[in-house]
Amino acid sequence: MILLTGGLGYIGSHVAVELIKQGYDVVIIDDLSNSEYSVLERLSELTDTEIYFELGDVRDITFLTGVFQRYQIENVIHLAAKKAVGESVHKPLHYYDVNVSGLINLLKVLEDHRVKKFVFSSSCTVYGQPDQLPVTESTPLGDTPSPYGKTKQMCEQILESVAKVAKHQIVSLRYFNPVGAHHSGKIGELPKGVPNNLVPFITQTSAGLRDELKVFGGDYSTPDGTAIRDYIHVVDLARAHVKALMVDLGAHIALNLGTRQGYSVLEVIKAFEEVSGIELNYTIVERRAGDLPEIYGDPSLAYKKLQWKAELGLTDMMRDAWNWQQGLAK
Ligand code: WQD
Repeated sequence: MILLTGGLGYIGSHVAVELIKQGYDVVIIDDLSNSEYSVLERLSELTDTEIYFELGDVRDITFLTGVFQRYQIENVIHLAAKKAVGESVHKPLHYYDVNVSGLINLLKVLEDHRVKKFVFSSSCTVYGQPDQLPVTESTPLGDTPSPYGKTKQMCEQILESVAKVAKHQIVSLRYFNPVGAHHSGKIGELPKGVPNNLVPFITQTSAGLRDELKVFGGDYSTPDGTAIRDYIHVVDLARAHVKALMVDLGAHIALNLGTRQGYSVLEVIKAFEEVSGIELNYTIVERRAGDLPEIYGDPSLAYKKLQWKAELGLTDMMRDAWNWQQGLAK
């Protein structure tokens, strides 16, 4: 049995599908703070499988202990965390509490149980503004100004220390920019309120829910002046989690989950317009505070260790994001 924390969220729901596809039994923990119970029903429909679900918070050690007593857990994939960079500046303690205390709690409970693997959801944000691109796992971790970014760095440091004494292997997966949705259109990202991230903003604007997309910054020193990111299809990302359970990776390893291919905001918009046939209403405005001009990652270590690489391209990401958005309106 795999314990999947945050399993009803955007990434967790896609990981659940891929785990079940590979024959794993899954128990999901989620507190529904940024997800909906209906996702569980959709997951059951999509996989035609019973998925065990426990409503609760990773900061609640009694709850976690109970889950470990009720299920025979062999591996843990820990995704439950807060992830909005801007919000983290206004609610730093909440971010440290959920992300860092949540991790510590879970690791404490693991001390009394025989678990093989612990997979942690990290982020390329740990690199800060790197001097050289693409970033590799040996790129030094940089200054990341947001409390959100700092929590991911702290969590990796905690895991590094714990790995020296723990019986389970630990894998930190550093996500670049996950976008898209499951091709079925049954699961995808459900942003609460106004989306912070580019792709949900694009799809909501095209669906008529937002008036226009603001492109943050047209004066970066990139070929078209807009910022460059390494977008990765959420299903590719989810597949890497399953692979991480299957192979021996030593005490602790961090792996980049990206594509090595950077795209500018304008390139993403163009790909979306081609897929949807809709001309997007956008204007270029000031840069967004805290944004990096450019980041993309070298995923070759993940290939070497997991035999994993991203298979879906930008067109797939846009098609599936748009398909999901259109389904939401029905
Ligand atoms: C992408 C690009 C924006 C919105 C963040 C986290 C990171 C990661 C993913 C998460 C940037 C531009 C955006 C808009 C725009 N992990 N943009 N108009 O900031 O690269 O990464 O999310 O949990 O850790 O930092 O992603 O999608 O917000 O932005 O022009 O309305 O799109 O400026 O260049 P980001 P994003």
